[in-house]
This record gives sequence, structure tokens and C-alpha cells, in this order.
Amino acid sequence: MSIESVSRESRVFPPPASFSERAHLKTREEYEAMYQRSIEDRDGFWREQAEAFHWFEAPETICEWTPPHAKWFVGGKTNLAYNCLDRHLGTRGNKAAIIWEGEDGEVITLTYRQLHRDVCRAANAMEKLGVGAGDRVGIYMGMVPEAAVIMLACARIGAIHTVIFGGFAADAIRDRLNDAEAKLVVTQDGAWRRGKVIPLKAQVDKAITDCPTVKHTLVVKRAQNEIDMEPGRDKWWHDMMAVVSGKHEAPALDSEHPLFILYTSGTTGKPKGVLHTTGGYMVGTTLTSKYVFDLRDEDVYWCTADVGWITGHSYIVYGPLSNGATALMYEGAPNHPDEGRFWEMIERHGVTIFYTAPTAIRAFIKWGERWPMEHDLTSLRLLGTVGEPINPEAWIWYRNVIGRGECPIVDTWWQTETGGMMLTPIPGVTPTKPGSCTLPFFGVSPKILREDGTEAEANEGGLLVIDQPWPSMLRTVWGDDERFRQQYFSKFEGKYFTGDGARRDEDGYFWVMGRVDDVVNVSGHRLGTAEVESALVGHKAVAEAAVVGRPDELTGQSLVAFVTLKGGFSGGDALKAELIDQVGQEIGKFARPSDVRFADGLPKTRSGKIMRRLLKQLAAGVTDLGDTTTLEDASVLDKLRQ
Ligand code: WT7
Repeated sequence: MSIESVSRESRVFPPPASFSERAHLKTREEYEAMYQRSIEDRDGFWREQAEAFHWFEAPETICEWTPPHAKWFVGGKTNLAYNCLDRHLGTRGNKAAIIWEGEDGEVITLTYRQLHRDVCRAANAMEKLGVGAGDRVGIYMGMVPEAAVIMLACARIGAIHTVIFGGFAADAIRDRLNDAEAKLVVTQDGAWRRGKVIPLKAQVDKAITDCPTVKHTLVVKRAQNEIDMEPGRDKWWHDMMAVVSGKHEAPALDSEHPLFILYTSGTTGKPKGVLHTTGGYMVGTTLTSKYVFDLRDEDVYWCTADVGWITGHSYIVYGPLSNGATALMYEGAPNHPDEGRFWEMIERHGVTIFYTAPTAIRAFIKWGERWPMEHDLTSLRLLGTVGEPINPEAWIWYRNVIGRGECPIVDTWWQTETGGMMLTPIPGVTPTKPGSCTLPFFGVSPKILREDGTEAEANEGGLLVIDQPWPSMLRTVWGDDERFRQQYFSKFEGKYFTGDGARRDEDGYFWVMGRVDDVVNVSGHRLGTAEVESALVGHKAVAEAAVVGRPDELTGQSLVAFVTLKGGFSGGDALKAELIDQVGQEIGKFARPSDVRFADGLPKTRSGKIMRRLLKQLAAGVTDLGDTTTLEDASVLDKLRQ
């Protein structure tokens, strides 16, 4: 049985000449030559790329590959924080590294020199608390500048950070801290979200009653909410920072020194601690930031992700700073105080590069064009998306309404495990097709395989696999190398299995259809649910759609569509029939949902991912929905149940 790919998108948008002329990479030939070299002479290519960084000792071997284990820049000694900060002091010391905006509108600009000083202080503070190289540090914070400071400080002293997204509750925090055996937890009194205080320290207090390895907490004062401080154990950030020096010498760390653990959900209940290491991650995230965002010194770059996810690690903190860029960081919600917040910020800060998620774009569409229209967005020159397949309609809206029909869009496919972007346009080079993440980045060798391991033909859906190592790849699952091998390298021996279904078209462009676990089988047709969703969102009434399979006696599975509508439309039998017909028209009768349910909102994690597991259970009529603690808005479920 094959994965059937059914999207029919044929529009092509070449990069505007005015963009290409000024870009780091200007022509398809340049890209092709670099790409060929990166595949045919992998070590030579990466040796050259690594020369742009500061190494205390140069690497001897570029890549050691004993599947499934890779080592990169072996023998090299470096320091990622040194490369993000110290390296720029001579040339960009007084340039803004991070422009931070609080939800209340407060703005703090940290220059490279100031950020360097704060990171040195935080490094000294941690050492004073007995934290050293190899120790694990939990970070449970909102989007405050101190989150970036402490990550960089960990990287500086060689402590391994594990950032736990601020939306997780005490039990989830506890499990992660215990799995990592963290010694220190860095948090804040409370975080601001839609004008309300989310009590972070209180969650940590609850979690660590059960975490024997945690010796201290370090607490940033942000929301001034009342908290408990346990004497001896809990320290205020500002107290510690006041008594330590702003000088700290970055130690030379092994290229393979562990950098961070980031937990991500797998198919079992237990999250996987994805481990990244220093040298390869540094080179990978820096190079992708440079070429995919076409970063230049005068850019104001804004990635709207949270530092609790990989996008925040790679493309708010490490990649941009290593390039000496100016990154905007925003604390709060996109619709606070109103739905114009992002556009107002882009205008006020003169943002030139904007990187967000399809789910956010669909929210913007739902809120309506009037919000972006009220602002001058002409500073923007490049748009990006990440996190899920983007439906062509949202892509076109993004291009026209936010990008004035002029900004290239980079649809970047990658994963927590890949560390950095893998399939992506190069904005001055790659003609884009709405919904396609286009071509592989340098050094990335993707294949579409059938279940039996043979290669699929053009336009034949299959499993997305990477068959060569790349610098920023995960090294293992923390504490569970067997799970690492099982999960990623056992389906196809020695090749990295992404868990995604995809196809490659006649031009070699990749179209990712989503997780194979979201692939639904209707009457022997395996369908990427994203494609059905895209068809639904093509209807003028639909704001967002999520399609899941439910068991069906006749067809194996049938499709249930959960749909939210744009303002001015209301759901009813007529619209239901219209939508089902629309899918039949666009894809084929076999892909028609058997049921369409209208809703005010879809159940999402706080990172914006639709919780398909819940929708599948709802569709199947399951009443006990299990763990729903990661939901952004729990009331959505009650409405969907009715
Ligand atoms: C999964 C990884 C990468 C950082 C954020 C998510 C999906 C990601 C795309 C894209 C289609 C995408 C894949 C992937 N995904 N980007 N541009 N087009 N699908 O990281 O939580 O590790 O999720 O997100 O299914 O496997 P993550």
C-alpha cells in the first residue's frame, strides 16, 4: 500500500530580481554547485564552512559516522557562547543583539556587549551555585531576555540546558527534570500572557518536591507576584547577578560536548530527550540562518516561536546571534491588546525578516485583513514559515497581505531532531511553489522510500528519510540510546527516518504531507490529512480545518473534519454539504470527509500544534480523553464534545 499524494498545486513564484541581486546566494547555479560539493565532498565542504568560526583547537576529523552515531568536527575545541558573543565584540559590540519587547510594551535592547556581560555574570553565578560542565540545568521561563542569557551562559560553561516550555504543568516539569537529573532550575516569579500572570515559580515548587537532584532554583523577578522562596535553596537572579563579575573566560569545550537536551513527544507517553552537541549544531544553525534568512547586518529579524521549542533555540538564540544579527524577542500573545499587535510591532521596530508558523497565519486570516492593513509593513523583505505543512491558500494570503506580493517565502521543513533546517528554499535562488518546502539545504541527502526500502518515483508518496549524517543532527535520546536507535534508525537500517510522509515532484521539490501517524487510510487509499485540510481551507468560509481518521466498518477509516469558520459565516447542513463537495472536487470522491463538525476553535498545544490525538478520540466517540494538560484552551474540548 502506498501513501497517496493528492495535492494539485502548480503555481511557481521565482525570487524577485531585486532580492536576488543583493542576496548572499544569487543564482540557481551557485546553489547547485555548493549543494553538489556538499554531497560529493562532504568533509571538504564542512571543513571549509567551519573555518568561519572560532576554534580554540581546529578539528582533525570532520565527520565520524558509525550509524546511528555521528561525531562532527572531532578533536575541535570551541565554545558556542564565545562564537555568539565574544567573537562579535570587536566588530559589533554596540549593535543590538536582542531587542526584547514585553507584553506591556516595555522595550529593552541588549547590545552584543551588554548581552556578553550578562551572560558572563550568569555563568559566574551558576558556577557559584556549584554548576559546572556536564551538569544539567532546567529552564522553565517565559519569553524574557534572561531566558536567552541563561541558555548562553549554560553553553558558555558547558552545562547542558533543558528548556521546558512555560506551558507545561508541574508533573511534566518533574518528569523532565528527573529524566535529565537536573541540578539547578532557572525560572521566574510569573510570566505575562494576555495581561494575566502565569505563576511559573509555583509550578516549579510543586514539581521539585519530587526531584531529588535539584539543589537550587534561580528566580527572575518579572511579574512581582507573591511567591515562596525556600531559604538556602531558592536564589533571586538579581541578587546573584549583583555579586558576581561581568568577566568570564569561555572554556574550550570539545566539539562533541553536549549542548542541550530538548524533550519532544513521541508515540509513547514518555517524552524523548533529544540531545544536541556543540560544534555540529553551531555550524548547522549558523549556516542555515545565514543562507535561508539571507541575514545581513542591517536586518531586524523576528522569529515568533517560544524558546521552549527547538525553533526558539536554533532561530531566536543560537543561529542569529552566531551570525551577529539583531533578533527581536516578544514576550506575549499575538492578540494582546488586540489582533494588530504583530503588525504594529513590525512597523515600530522596522522588522525585515519575519518567521512564524502556519497555524499563526491561519489565525491572522481568521482575524481579518483589516489588522495588517492598518500598518506599514514595507520594512519586510523576507517571510518564513515552520512547524507544519502550509496550505497553499494560507501561503498565498501570507505572500499577498503580509508580503505585498513581493517578499519571498521560505517554507522550512525540519524537526527538533534535525537541529536546523533541512528542506528549504534559498530566498534569492529558489522559485517557490505554495505548499512545498522545495529543496534540500547543503549537506542534506533526503530520500523518499517505500515501505520496502526502495525509492519512490517522482510524485509517488512515501516515507521521508535522510540517508547521510549532517552536522546538527541529534546524537542520541538522553539516557536511552536503544530508543534512539529504534525510533530513528531501525525502520531503514542506518538511515534516519523522519516519521513524515512526503513526495518529490518532477522538479525534485519536496512536499511534506505530515506525520505518517496522521496518514489516514480510506478504502485502501492512504491520504495525508494535511492535503484534505488544504482543500477545505480553500473554501471561502473556512478559517482552519483539522482532519482525522476514525474507524469505519466499511472503509477501514473515514475522515472527520473539524472546521472553524471565518467571521460572517455560520455552519449548517448546506455548508457541510458544500465543504464535502469541495474536497470531492479538489481531490476525489474517496477523500471526502464523512462528517464535518463546526467549532469555535481547535484543541491546540500552547505551541500552536493541533492536538490530533484528541480530535481522533472525539471523532471516534471516546469519552475519556486522557492527558489534556498541554492544551492552550481547555474549554475548546467541551464545545467540540457537544
Ligand atoms: C514536525 C517536527 C521544526 C521546528 C518546529 C517543529 C512538521 C515542520 C514543516 C514544514 C511540513 C513541517 C513535520 C515534522 N513540520 N516544519 N515546513 N512543512 N511539515 O518541530 O515539534 O520537532 O515537529 O513538524 O511533521 O516532522 P517538531
